[in-house]
Amino acid sequence: MSAATPEHIMQVGMGFWASKTLLSAVELGVFSTLAEAPADLPTLERKLALHRRPARDFLDALVALKLLERENGVYRNTADTDLFLDRAKPSYIGGILEMANARLYGFWGSLTEALRTGEVQNESKGKEEDLFTAHYAEPDRLRRFLTAMSGISAGAAHAIAANFPWKDHKSFMDVGSAQGMVPATLACAHPHLTGIGFDLPAVKPVFEEFMAHRGVAGRVRFQGGNFFEDPLPKADVIVMGHILHDWDLDQKKLLLRKAFEALPKGGAVIVYDAIIDDDRRENAFGLLMSLNMLIETPGGFDYTGEECQDWMREAGFSKPRVEPLVGPDSMVIGLK
Ligand SMILES: C[S@@+](CC[C@H](N)C(=O)[O-])C[C@H]1O[C@@H](n2cnc3c(N)ncnc32)[C@H](O)[C@@H]1O
Repeated sequence: MSAATPEHIMQVGMGFWASKTLLSAVELGVFSTLAEAPADLPTLERKLALHRRPARDFLDALVALKLLERENGVYRNTADTDLFLDRAKPSYIGGILEMANARLYGFWGSLTEALRTGEVQNESKGKEEDLFTAHYAEPDRLRRFLTAMSGISAGAAHAIAANFPWKDHKSFMDVGSAQGMVPATLACAHPHLTGIGFDLPAVKPVFEEFMAHRGVAGRVRFQGGNFFEDPLPKADVIVMGHILHDWDLDQKKLLLRKAFEALPKGGAVIVYDAIIDDDRRENAFGLLMSLNMLIETPGGFDYTGEECQDWMREAGFSKPRVEPLVGPDSMVIGLK
C-alpha cells in the first residue's frame, strides 16, 4: 500500500504560483530577451527593469520550473522556451499566455461565483454583449485576441496538415478562422490547396496580413460573415477549430448542420477542440477548458468525442471518427 502524501494536493493547490511566474515572464519579455543573448543577473535586472529584491528568485524559480537554464551565473532559454516564447520567431505561441495573463488570470478569480451562478465572469459580466462583441470593439484588443488564438491552435494546425488525407481534396474553409493559423499552415504544407478563412468582418485586416506574412495570400482569401446568419462558403473540407465549444448545444448542432449543407458529396468536416475522453476522467485540460467556457461564454462547453460523433450523425455525416492531434487536442472527422 502506498503511503499517502500531500505532494499532489499542494502542487495543484499552489499551481497558480508557477502559472503566474511564467505569465509574468512572458509579459516582461524574459524569453525574447534571452533569445537575443544569454545574460547574467545584473544584465537581466537592467534589461527587464526588474527590482533587485525579487530578480534572483524570479529567474531561479524559472530555472527550477525548467523554463530557463543557468550555468556559471548565466541564464539562457531552454530549447522549448527559445522556440515557442521568443516573440521574434514565427513559432511564438505566447499570445495565448499574454491573454491568459491580461484577462483569464483575473477572471478565474471569480470561478466560485461562476460555479454558483453559472454566469460569465469576463468583461461581458452583467451585460448583454457576447465575448466577441466585447473584444472586437477595440482594434488592439481584437488583434491581441486573434493572435492568442494562433498560439492555441498552432500545434493542432500542424497535426491536421500532417494527419488528414489532403491529397484527396482541393479546397478547404476554416470557420471562425481568427488570424488564420490553420489556413496558413494547411496552405504552406499543401501547395495544391486553396482555402477560405470565414470570420466576422472585423477580422479581415488581421487575417490578410497574416496570409501575406506566411506567403499564401494568393491561395487563401478571407470571407466576412456571421456563421449563425449567413450560409457558410462552400469547400471540399470544412474545419471548425475551437468553435463548437463556444456555444450551447442547439448552436453547436446548427453549426454542424450548416457545415453539412455547405459540403459537396465526398466532402469532410474536421472539428477540433480539447476533446474530452468519453469517460470524462483523463483530459484535465479539456475539462478545465470547459470551465473556461463557463467564465467566457453564456452557454459554451467542451465535449467528448462520443458526443461530437452523435451530433455529427444527427447532422447527416457518416462514419465519424476521433483522431488525436497534439497534447489535449483531438479532431473529429465526419464525411458527407
Ligand atoms: C475561439 S476562436 C477560434 C479561432 C480558431 N479557429 C482557432 O482554433 O484558434 C472563435 C472564432 O470564431 C469567430 N466568431 C465568433 N462568432 C462568430 C460568428 N457569429 N460568425 C463568424 N465567426 C464568429 C471569432 O471571431 C473567433 O475568431
